[in-house]
Amino acid sequence: MNHFELRDGVLHCEEVPLPRIAEQVGTPVYVYSTATMQRHARVMKTALAALKEPLVAFAVKANPNAAVLATLAAEGLGADVVSGGEYRRARAAGIAADKIVFSGVGKTADEMALALEGGVFQFNVESFPEAEMLSEIAVSMGRIAPVSFRINPDVAAGSHAKISTGAARDKFGISTADVMSAFSRARELPGLDAQGVAVHIGSQLTSLKPLESAFRRLGDLIGELRSAGHRISVADLGGGLGVPYDPDAPLPPSPADYARLVGRIAGGWDLRLVFEPGRLIVGNAGVLLTRVIRIKEGASSPFVIVDAAMNDLMRPSLYDAWHGIEAVVPNDDTMVADIVGPVCETGDTFARARAIDRVEAGELMVIRTAGAYAATMGSTYNSRPLAAEVLVNGSDWAVVRKRQEIEALIDGDIIPPWLGSAPS
Ligand code: LLP
Repeated sequence: MNHFELRDGVLHCEEVPLPRIAEQVGTPVYVYSTATMQRHARVMKTALAALKEPLVAFAVKANPNAAVLATLAAEGLGADVVSGGEYRRARAAGIAADKIVFSGVGKTADEMALALEGGVFQFNVESFPEAEMLSEIAVSMGRIAPVSFRINPDVAAGSHAKISTGAARDKFGISTADVMSAFSRARELPGLDAQGVAVHIGSQLTSLKPLESAFRRLGDLIGELRSAGHRISVADLGGGLGVPYDPDAPLPPSPADYARLVGRIAGGWDLRLVFEPGRLIVGNAGVLLTRVIRIKEGASSPFVIVDAAMNDLMRPSLYDAWHGIEAVVPNDDTMVADIVGPVCETGDTFARARAIDRVEAGELMVIRTAGAYAATMGSTYNSRPLAAEVLVNGSDWAVVRKRQEIEALIDGDIIPPWLGSAPS
């Protein structure tokens, strides 16, 4: 469900016609819908309402824009962060420290100190050496670090290999065989409070089966840890629930299906459950609005060359991801085309041989489901400045990230003294 709909033949975001945004801000531009994000946050919270005090910590990596984070903070969501930068952005956007989970396999000493200083709900620790470092830093600061150990449950998530994280060969978590000793050794470490366990097996999951296996393994471990005298008061079940990209593909499980699974397996664990949804909250709340530069004849189908490129939205190039592509003012006619950007590699292709609305040079299109892992994965490849971002709220809208200026790229480089000064 999202709030991008045709009204009088023109695609709107909520009450705002997309051509108005394109005219005033230029293209390419990301457009986010407040109502869609609110709806997804509420659907998730409602689905989990039967649980005792669940903490829903939005995975900031999916969309770290301050306006997005502030929208979700107002819905009561916390944050799952994986860097000092994400921690600071979450705090700056108004997310309370006691709703922040600090995840990630490579936390540095500085990042640990930052979160200990500012406060955190827990660190999800992924190895024993990480626990030792955290202990040292916490002791040096006179703090106690709340910790959950992330378990690697060794399950196949069934998602794209690059975004599956729960198999034994993956870099994430501690194997179930080593968890007991990690807890026992952590007990001896000063400055740590080992309060729980965590699991996250991958992203864009379209079946609940692997989640069920992972949660069952976590449940068994909680039983074993408690029998060995460890107090387990938190279980973090991660994120990962998929969203619909392709309307012709089977629908992924709904938040309600997911919550039923959680209730069935974890409802009796008698602890606080934490969730880290990212894509589910923001995926369908964004589009990338782009203008057709020109149509070029191709060997089999024409190329629709748009002014967005792989540097703006990397997912198709990186994961062969499918994104819906539509005209902003469709004319009831269709064409089969390759939709490509201006970047100089063949990977800069949003879709191949796709039946789309017929478009001509100068017309606007959207690439859908671009609210998650989209703007944030942008780069300046081909010296293309980062795209602008806009947030819509009913009939209001605002630029929430200015288009990067090319001067920012030029000024960021430094010509060393031996090359002389740059020509002015
Ligand atoms: N928690 C942890 C520990 C994670 O690593 C992730 C995502 C999440 C939560 C949120 O997962 P979600 O609910 O959004 O599925 N760039 C890729 C996705 C990478 C996901 C990385 N971790 C993409 O564009 O598909």
